[in-house]
Amino acid sequence: MPRPPRFTASVASMPGAVYSPFTDRLRDHTGPLYPLHVGDTWKAPFEGARMQDLRAEDHPGLHQYCDTRGQPALVDALVDKLRGRNGLACERESVLVSAGATAALSCVAGAIVDPGDEVLILAPFWPLIRGIVQSFRGVPVEVPFYDRVGSAEEAVAAVRAHLSPRTAALYVSTPSNPTGRVLPGDWLEALAAFARREGLWLLSDEVYEDYVYRGEHVSLGRFAPERTFSAFSFSKAYGMAGNRVGILTGPAPAIEAARKVGTHTVYHPPTAGQLAAVEALVPRVADLLSDLFPEEDVSSTRDEGTSVLAVPARFPDGIGRGILRAQVFRYRTAARVDLTLTHNRVIALADGRPTDRACFLNDFKASVTLGPNATTLPERFVTQVREGVRGALTAVEAHNRQHPQPWSRIHVTVAEAEMAGR
Ligand SMILES: Cc1ncc(COP(=O)(O)O)c(C=O)c1O
Repeated sequence: MPRPPRFTASVASMPGAVYSPFTDRLRDHTGPLYPLHVGDTWKAPFEGARMQDLRAEDHPGLHQYCDTRGQPALVDALVDKLRGRNGLACERESVLVSAGATAALSCVAGAIVDPGDEVLILAPFWPLIRGIVQSFRGVPVEVPFYDRVGSAEEAVAAVRAHLSPRTAALYVSTPSNPTGRVLPGDWLEALAAFARREGLWLLSDEVYEDYVYRGEHVSLGRFAPERTFSAFSFSKAYGMAGNRVGILTGPAPAIEAARKVGTHTVYHPPTAGQLAAVEALVPRVADLLSDLFPEEDVSSTRDEGTSVLAVPARFPDGIGRGILRAQVFRYRTAARVDLTLTHNRVIALADGRPTDRACFLNDFKASVTLGPNATTLPERFVTQVREGVRGALTAVEAHNRQHPQPWSRIHVTVAEAEMAGR
């Protein structure tokens, strides 16, 4: 009987499934079960960033190939996000949009692992990383770590114990899957210094950067930018796992090498997924405004292409309820928020009917530009708004003490309009 041609040794050594083998073991388990096995989140994508929100009329090229680095608008937004949020020195040339962080890490492995090279993997770990290394004929070496190590010195000692002349790279995941542990900055700094001394690449898996319950997430790439590949994802915090959009950043020549691998495997991640990712990075102005007045509900209405966000704000001094309105101008993934405060006064018409008039006493204006992925309002803006509202209240009270027709309401105005791209 003729035999079919053979499979590679590396594919033979790889498991076919990483999670389903647990199913049999679970069947015999008694007691509570906590499904932590697949990283799909319970969240739906933001409105505007869901597949049903994308229309070819609004997104020319939706069904076409795009740049192999990624959709230009997404790459630009990611440069801002990686610089501003992660503190990584980064240019367009140091970014690659990948088919999830999985493909980002595969591209890295293809770029830096020669057959027989070892990759140190801090354990316990996300199981696909082992097969990713094996795909490129590399040897995964597990380093017991997250549940063993208690200081920067111990972290380095644990890694050093597994170093060999074939070690090419160290894979670090923080916040870690599956332990949730967030590695402190001084540990990362020590591991980066170790990698520099030993001439290793660093693979920093940061797909869970938004899931920090204790400590502060710090990006490893800040400590050794010349040798760190950092992977991020739209799968977790954005609820877009099926879109297959991830982010890789690192030194430009290293990203160019990884890009070659991506080009020859998937060419580029789905265009539609990337366009949705651009939408997901637009700052959520309504959420941010609710942080200003947490006890109020923000409502949003659209009027001739303009969306107006309104917060009914209660004022404690008996002047009543005002309305806070925001005008938001979109500039790709950044948003400019113009906030204005006008005072309204109810006056009586000649026939005795009451009418509402905007009166421009103590006008108050504040403006802020929020970059992609902004999660907080700048302190300066918050202070400006609070002081503006306080100033208006004082003026209204003073006015009301002296005049028979008192100011009845306070309006703080905020609105949303789309601005054409750059
Ligand atoms: C630690 C870790 N890295 C990477 C990934 C892959 O994420 P993506 O969906 O972006 O490929 C996962 C997904 O569960 C993960 O847990």
